[in-house]
Amino acid sequence: MAFTKTFGVMFLCFSLCLVFSSADGNAPLSAYEVLQSYNLPVGVLPAGVAGYTLDSNSGQFWVNLTNECKFNEGGHKIKYESIITGVITQNNLGDLDGVKVKTAFFWSSIKNVNRDQDQLGFKVGIFGTKSFPISDFSYSPECYY
Ligand SMILES: *[C@@H]1O[C@H](CO)[C@@H](O)[C@H](O)[C@H]1NC(C)=O
Repeated sequence: MAFTKTFGVMFLCFSLCLVFSSADGNAPLSAYEVLQSYNLPVGVLPAGVAGYTLDSNSGQFWVNLTNECKFNEGGHKIKYESIITGVITQNNLGDLDGVKVKTAFFWSSIKNVNRDQDQLGFKVGIFGTKSFPISDFSYSPECYY
C-alpha cells in the first residue's frame, strides 16, 4: 500500500516534471500547450482562453473563454459557451460540454473530438462522426462575437 502510494507520487512527479521541463522556464502551460501535450492541435480551442483547470489524473478539464464564442470553420458555424468542460486523454477530448455546431436549423452538441493520425473526427450526437484533416486546426480560430 505505502509502496504503491509512494510509487504513485513519484510517477506523478516524474510525469509533471517531464511536462513542465518541456515548457520555457517554470511558467505553467497554456491551455494550447496542454492540448499539444495530448497530441491534439491548438485549433481545437478558439483564441482567448482566460483560464483553465486540469486534473492531470482523470484528465477532467474546465476552460474559461470569458464570453460565448462563435466562428466559421470549414463552412460550419461553431459555437463555444463561455465555459466548456470535458475529459482530455491522448488524442481525445471526451464528455464535451459547451461546444456546438449548427446543423440545418439548430445547434447540436459536439460530444467528442478524436485524433486518428492525420484526421480529426468530431462526434455530433445523432449525426455521427465527421472528420477533417488535422492541418485545418493549426491555428486557434478568432471569435467573431
Ligand atoms: C472567466 O475569466 C474572466 C476573465 O478573466 C473572469 O472575469 C471570470 O470571472 C472567469 N469566470 C469564472 C467562472 O471563473
